[in-house]
Formats: sequence, C-alpha cells, structure tokens
Amino acid sequence: MRRVVCPGSFDPVTNGHIDVISRAAQLYDEVVVAVFRNPSKTALFSTEERLELLRETTRNLENVRVEHVEGLLVDFCKANDISAVVKGLRAVSDFDYEMQMAQMNYSQAGVETLFMTTNPLWAFLSSSLVKDFAKFGGDVSGLVPPIVLERLNKRLREQ
Ligand code: PNS
Repeated sequence: MRRVVCPGSFDPVTNGHIDVISRAAQLYDEVVVAVFRNPSKTALFSTEERLELLRETTRNLENVRVEHVEGLLVDFCKANDISAVVKGLRAVSDFDYEMQMAQMNYSQAGVETLFMTTNPLWAFLSSSLVKDFAKFGGDVSGLVPPIVLERLNKRLREQ
C-alpha cells in the first residue's frame, strides 16, 4: 500500500489544507493527516477540536485518516510504514524552512518529502492569517470550510 503523511498543526484546517490533502488522496492509496502540536505557536483550538474539524471536513475522502501524533514525524513514519511526507508549498517564503525540515528528515531517517504546489487560489492562505483576520472582524467564509467558520467565530466571541 502506498501511504503518505500530511503533517501540520491545523489550527484550524483551511481550504488550502483541504486542497493539498484531497490532491494527495488522488495520488496515494492512503493519506494520514498527522496533527502535531507546534511548540512555537500558541493554539486557538485544542488537539481534540483540530482532529474533529479535520475528520469532519475530510469525511468524503475515503482513503484519508486523521491522527494525533506526538514526537518526531520520522518516528511516526517508520512505525506506520510511511515512506514520504507531502507538504504544500505556497511561496518562496515557505521554502527555506520546509527544505531544512525535509533534508533533516531524509538525512536522519531516509523519509522523503514531496512538495505539492499550492493551488494559486489559496497561495496566500495560512491558519494564522485566517485567525488574525477573523479576530478583527474580517469575513473568512471563503477561506475555510463552513464548520470551521462556525467554530472559529464562536471561539473568538468567547474570548
Ligand atoms: O502547520 P505547521 O505548524 O507549519 O506544522 C509544522 C509541523 C507540525 C509539520 C512540523 O513542526 C513537524 O513536522 N513537527 C513534527 C515534529 C518533528 O518531527 N520535528 C522535527 C522536524 S525536522
């Protein structure tokens, strides 16, 4: 079985993430969406909430499963017979960091990274930007799935 992983913090999942996950699902037998905590970011949604939103928004993709992962991505790959990571690349600004991570993962564990160019529709999009825009009253309805929009607005109202 050809299995890949799409890792991220997904706080929250955006249309850009869904685009990459669904395109990867057309290329591979199985896509594991691995939800990590990114220690350099403060999360708006708990891990359980991020998992739920991802599961809801990918439920139409039969070969996609969503998991919470702790520790190193390469260890998860080895334990789950996953030989490659799929990452969306939006712009050159993503490149340096992604390249470093990819080379680290390959040099230490032989895990490949495949970069998928983001659909230009979502090239500017990030979870952080969505949260910032929504926080100040911006309308992000075209940028995230409806259930994410609902939860995001609710969370921001509560704050
Ligand atoms: O959505 P993000 O926050 O940009 O995702 C970053 C993530 C989770 C993909 C990255 O931090 C990662 O791969 N973390 C897993 C832990 C790990 O293996 N770290 C070493 C990377 S060289």
